Amino acid sequence: MFVCARLRNGLLSSVRRYLHTTTAYNGAGGASFVHRDTPENNPDTPFEFTSENYKRIEAIIGNYPEGHKAGAVIPVLDLAQRQHGWLPISAMNKVAEVLEMPAMRVYEVATFYTMFNRKPVGKYHVQICTTTPCMLCNSDSILEAIEKKLGIHVGETTSDKLFTLTEVECLGACVNAPMVQINDNYYEDLTPKDIENIIDELKAGKVPTPGPRNGRFSCEPAGGLTSLTGPPKGPGFGVRADL
Ligand code: FES
Repeated sequence: MFVCARLRNGLLSSVRRYLHTTTAYNGAGGASFVHRDTPENNPDTPFEFTSENYKRIEAIIGNYPEGHKAGAVIPVLDLAQRQHGWLPISAMNKVAEVLEMPAMRVYEVATFYTMFNRKPVGKYHVQICTTTPCMLCNSDSILEAIEKKLGIHVGETTSDKLFTLTEVECLGACVNAPMVQINDNYYEDLTPKDIENIIDELKAGKVPTPGPRNGRFSCEPAGGLTSLTGPPKGPGFGVRADL
């Protein structure tokens, strides 16, 4: 809701405009951008990289120039999250230690990128995009179908800890709108029925086939090819004969 108050002709008039708003993303499941110690998330929360992940970190750091370990902060945070399931502050502190950078710089990155969950999430993290292209393709109906099917609202986790529902901004698959991301997979061109089937498959312990659900390949035009419909021309096509 946007409220504008202004003085006009000596009178204070208020103009209220109600806008469609999305739920502010705040770290999966309602965490504040400001960290507050809790029994499950504090500097003493046990976290240590596995020896296998230490090897991975070494390989990741090797991708960056000498003296620029800090450049590896995003992939190393991602590794910490994959190992732990989410990102407690103790894991961020460990990342800072491993990369020899101030902890605050790590917090800045982890709170900026919505891919980092600073609260526990369910086994399946359902992220629904409701930004303009998805909204125009009726992402509201997908969100409603998920909420109804799982019995939870945005920011909540099912009591069996299987599903967490988060509303996110554009996930870069607008051409396949409406879509959701579940863990690492994108499910696209969805109808409410599709998302119900996907949830059923996940509940049954299967991994539903990612990608478009309307039969098209990847992000090809939904109505069939409109260009590049013939075999490609050979080298030199369209070039002046005397060149
Ligand atoms: S707007 Fe939904 S993926 Fe871009």
